[in-house]
Amino acid sequence: MRPQEIIAKKRDGGELTDEEIGAFVDGVCDKSWADYQISALVMAMFIRRLSESEGEHLVRSMLYSGEVLDFSDIDKPKADKHSTGGVGDKTSLIIAPVVAACGVAVPMISGRGLGHTGGTLDKLESIPGYNVKLSANEFRNVIDKCGFAMAGQTADIAPADKKLYALRDATATVPYIPLIVASIMSKKLAEGLDALVLDVKTGSGAFMAELSDARELAKAMVKTGERFGVKTQAVISSMDQPLGKYVGNAVEVYECIKILRSEIEPAAMPTWKLSLELSARMLVLTGIEKSLESAKTACTAKLESGEALELFRRNIECQGGDPSVCDDPEKLLDGSIHKFDILAESNGFVSAIDTLAIGNAMCELGGGRTKADDKVDHAVGFTSDVKIGSEIRFGDPVGTVLCRDKVQFDSVENKLRSAYTISRDKPVQVGLILEVIS
Ligand code: URA
Repeated sequence: MRPQEIIAKKRDGGELTDEEIGAFVDGVCDKSWADYQISALVMAMFIRRLSESEGEHLVRSMLYSGEVLDFSDIDKPKADKHSTGGVGDKTSLIIAPVVAACGVAVPMISGRGLGHTGGTLDKLESIPGYNVKLSANEFRNVIDKCGFAMAGQTADIAPADKKLYALRDATATVPYIPLIVASIMSKKLAEGLDALVLDVKTGSGAFMAELSDARELAKAMVKTGERFGVKTQAVISSMDQPLGKYVGNAVEVYECIKILRSEIEPAAMPTWKLSLELSARMLVLTGIEKSLESAKTACTAKLESGEALELFRRNIECQGGDPSVCDDPEKLLDGSIHKFDILAESNGFVSAIDTLAIGNAMCELGGGRTKADDKVDHAVGFTSDVKIGSEIRFGDPVGTVLCRDKVQFDSVENKLRSAYTISRDKPVQVGLILEVIS
């Protein structure tokens, strides 16, 4: 089957057969399709749209383009969570040890930050020595030792996605739900899971800013997960403000370790609240707990007893990192970093936060990437106790920038200040957990 024939069929609005979709994915993996042919077909899919059956075959072909991990000999249910990405979104580091402490194996394959959203792997690499590049065997051994492992995607897992995602990014074809579903679910379904909880973000710092789009994406992913035999649920959560207190890499790990130590600062409470919700749903989906309430009680007990922190410590040891950060989280913070406050220029209530602008400012400081091969400065970041609804007075800090020098601060100061809208009237509070799709 020649690529041009498949491209022409989709260009003219035809429905591709399973074989044609399979030939396309094979061509991506064995490099027999040129980048311009892949891009042309993806653009044709974007414009002409995919039928439900085409979407399902795309997931299937992408999933089986690589290895599907088999953990069937682990005598525990297997579950993971996936977030569509946000600012200050650090729940994985809490969920994995909490859920593992409750008796579920968590094979967590994570990503790096790109654009304004952070990535779990970058955050973990701010723990001195922590290795996220595990072979399939090493990944398995870590799960055996501490109940969870957190690593990057190997070249053998959904290999078609890496190439496709890079070309979609370069050709403005990312925001189409069936392509997003195929990309995310082909990776997650390769983890050999019994259950998957999705955290679909919506709001000013989310990839799906509109709730209706987030809902559509959540429904499509849940349907796909269930079709492939994985119990799947989605929580739609607000990204109208950064999650928790810190945004960055080392500072986000700091926030998580403080939570695992039960030293939760008020501004970090939403991080724990969302982690608890997602963890509890993983326990219910895997049948470990019967109700959401009992699951939340079990998770809270594992946090308060210190068992989740102990598992995190063991995981850091197993993955080559310095476990003493669990005893002394301050060790994560680089003493040479400079701190500058962003000061409010009026009195009133914070009525909106441009979370995307905060994520972009972190990228500008070097805390994130604009290109996949950019180096990340793990020490820079932003911290704020101010949330939507907070009362603020002229000259009060809305947040603090952690950066290398004053020049860096000057480059982001105005953008961060204008990310906070201050109004005279107290706004209606935004909820954190907006909807659940099961
Ligand atoms: N994240 C992914 O992994 N893939 C997409 O297509 C979009 C977000």
